[in-house]
Amino acid sequence: MEKTDLTEEIARRVDDIPMLSTVAYRLIAILTDEDPSLKEAVKIVETDAALTTRILRVANSAAFFRGNPITTVFRAVMQLGMKMVTGISIGACTSQMMSRPLQGYESASGELWDHSLRTAIASREFAFFIQSRLSSDLAFTAGLLHDIGKSIISEFLESNPEKLPEGRETGLVLENIEGERKQLGTDHALVGHAIALRWGLPEPICIAIKNHHQPGEADDKYRDLVYAVHLGDLVALIGKHGAGSEELAFNLDPGYEKYIKISDEDLSKLLSTIEEELSSVKTSLFEE
Ligand SMILES: [Fe+2]
Ligand SMILES: [Fe+2]
Repeated sequence: MEKTDLTEEIARRVDDIPMLSTVAYRLIAILTDEDPSLKEAVKIVETDAALTTRILRVANSAAFFRGNPITTVFRAVMQLGMKMVTGISIGACTSQMMSRPLQGYESASGELWDHSLRTAIASREFAFFIQSRLSSDLAFTAGLLHDIGKSIISEFLESNPEKLPEGRETGLVLENIEGERKQLGTDHALVGHAIALRWGLPEPICIAIKNHHQPGEADDKYRDLVYAVHLGDLVALIGKHGAGSEELAFNLDPGYEKYIKISDEDLSKLLSTIEEELSSVKTSLFEE
């Protein structure tokens, strides 16, 4: 297929993506309200038994548990925050898409889920170090969905695109967005953005998906969130691949320093907590 045909075919696939659940949309609608109502969110969650179970599980998992066991939806929503609860309900709708094996990325089934969760947790942690007041829940949701475009374009990628881009002779390429563009006329960030628009997700999440590889290009008002996801993504990849400082330097947008102030000590603490939280959130989110 010609490159332009591929680009069009990918756009058609985006149009065919199933919409999110009614509960997810109702939660998103509350989130975008000027004055979001916690009570309303609790009522919506309570209409969905599977979601209720999931949310109680996450609230009681080691990553979030602070004290006594949580047994009511109200307390669980208080503990997790509404955006996080919305993220969980979106996650429940997308888990099938994200658990398929991605042949174009040479990744096995479940790997995208693993990476997305790792990124969600790391982005949420970075949000605590943002200079402005950024919701850590929003960072979690954006991190969870940042690579959703991969689930569509994977099957169109001829081969593993993660070969070295021009100008580099050695090292490990964490993600090769230019390689995707060359092959397909689009990339997983742009396709992810199209999916987010189709789903009617809130603007900051759409922008975080679109710009997670080039955070400096994001609209100024969302840049703090986009940097949290950008860093979360890299930390997740480094944890997985054991990449070194050269890979980090090549992939990291140094502009983050303006938005995120984190000491070396806090950074190493953050890295060591991610794995722990990952296993705890993973089992609580996806066990049936
Ligand atoms: Fe990505
Ligand atoms: Fe990623």
